[in-house]
Amino acid sequence: MCGIVGYIGTEDSKEILLRGLEKLEYRGYDSAGIAVVNNEGVHVFKEKGRIAELRQAVDNSVVAPAGIGHTRWATHGVPSQENAHPHQSTSGRFTLVHNGVIENYAILKREYLQDVTFKSETDTEVIVQLIEKIAAEGFNVVASDAMAMLQVTDQYVELMDKETVIVTKEGVTIKTLDGEVVERAPYTAELDASDIEKGTYPHYMLKEIDEQPLVVRKIIQEYQNENNELHIDADILGAMDEADRIYIVACGTSYHAGLVGKQFIETWAKVPVEVHVASEFSYNMPLLSEKPLFIFISQSGETADSRAVLVQIKELGYKALTITNVPGSTLSRESDYTLLLHAGPEIAVASTKAYTAQLAVLSILAAVTAKTRGIELEFDLVQELAIVANTMEVLCDDKEEMESIALQFLATTRNAFFIGRSVDYYVGLEGALKLKEISYIQAEGFAGGELKHGTIALIENNTPIIALATQEHVNLSIRGNVKEVVARGANPCIISMKGLETEEDRYVIPKVHETLSPLAAVIPLQLISYYAALHRDCDVDKPRNLAKSVTVE
Ligand code: G6P
Repeated sequence: MCGIVGYIGTEDSKEILLRGLEKLEYRGYDSAGIAVVNNEGVHVFKEKGRIAELRQAVDNSVVAPAGIGHTRWATHGVPSQENAHPHQSTSGRFTLVHNGVIENYAILKREYLQDVTFKSETDTEVIVQLIEKIAAEGFNVVASDAMAMLQVTDQYVELMDKETVIVTKEGVTIKTLDGEVVERAPYTAELDASDIEKGTYPHYMLKEIDEQPLVVRKIIQEYQNENNELHIDADILGAMDEADRIYIVACGTSYHAGLVGKQFIETWAKVPVEVHVASEFSYNMPLLSEKPLFIFISQSGETADSRAVLVQIKELGYKALTITNVPGSTLSRESDYTLLLHAGPEIAVASTKAYTAQLAVLSILAAVTAKTRGIELEFDLVQELAIVANTMEVLCDDKEEMESIALQFLATTRNAFFIGRSVDYYVGLEGALKLKEISYIQAEGFAGGELKHGTIALIENNTPIIALATQEHVNLSIRGNVKEVVARGANPCIISMKGLETEEDRYVIPKVHETLSPLAAVIPLQLISYYAALHRDCDVDKPRNLAKSVTVE
């Protein structure tokens, strides 16, 4: 019920504040006060009773261009001059007016402010004293990940290899192993504490699956310039254009994103691409081209296997671009260039939104590189990605159907196979990885034509085969592959795209640009995996034996 006013400008604030308070007097008139600030400091005037009384108490010789004012309707503490706002902390460093009730003020007072002498009986003074206490407290923290300490600070200093740090309450001293002091400015972690909460979701994974349309839209925005054209840093484009071959290096889900990225870059920008599993590359380096460019894809930016390759290729003098979700991560710092995923923190161990974000960023990189190389694409990527985002939303809303597919095919099975051709094969690999990671069903992905060269021996009565059919040029062939396994007893779950569907299909994805189909097609696979794991009583967010960020070789 109290009223608050504030002013900052060039005029003297006193009269402006007093007039404002007069207008607010209907909200409370048992006491009132103003605090104004000028070069000499903060001047507080307060009085019991009406604004007219306060006017009398104000020292007119004080001229100050900023101030706050308050008219009080008493809750905590009787109407009195002491209880009138503004309230100040003991040292006078902080001055506060407040409207509302601090319900836990007594607990705060007991737990944190036992040594403070209070001037009033108000709950407000507890807050202003607490602010002073926290501001003066002086603390430092250490953490493997900024998000661990987000509740106490957003200021972080990175520690590099071969550095030591001495942390005290008052300060942080970084030294090299030779004892040389390193000066490094802190950076602000641009993380929202709410991003790392589950909210109303039962699992982070489900929340992160649902965030995907939003992430794609955010990426479109982040990579557009002021003319709404897709934009990539000129240095990166220069490096892409100069390269005679691109080597994508990654692990796990990021490796699967790399496979799709190869398709984007080769199809649109016409640069040859090889995709390598990092742990293999470091011990078995392929014969490199004359002008290679390395692209590291890593959600965390910390994966040891990928970093080992980065160190190797930097020693050889090659350039590296890292595509990561974590600004300031090791891979990002040690690469020449970085493209950020803007996906927000991914907490569930099984990667979902980072994968689609990686695809979206790779598609933009490929399209803008194509343009730099004078290649005209016959579609507008922004528009196509916007359609993808809308389609993702439709798919995310179809959870009941996804759950019923999971129950129909995966409730009790021991194993499952994913098949697809072209980019569907790559999405199938990711679908199989998702399923095995969180449900522990032995799931494997195969190129549609390859299954018959061995793995078909594993097909038994009712073995689930999840087949993707989103690509027109291989639609008939993948359907032929499905027939081969059905003839041997398999239980087929065909997921196709609108325009290619047949009656036997279990689920039809709305139409999106064919090359971008992985961004949409992966969502049913993520959701099916989620529900399979849920119905098999698995720990969805923290599957056994896995870790989110693997920082050992
Ligand atoms: C771990 C995670 C995977 C992830 C892989 C690569 O194995 O469990 O989900 O795909 O590391 O991680 P990165 O952070 O480099 O993308």
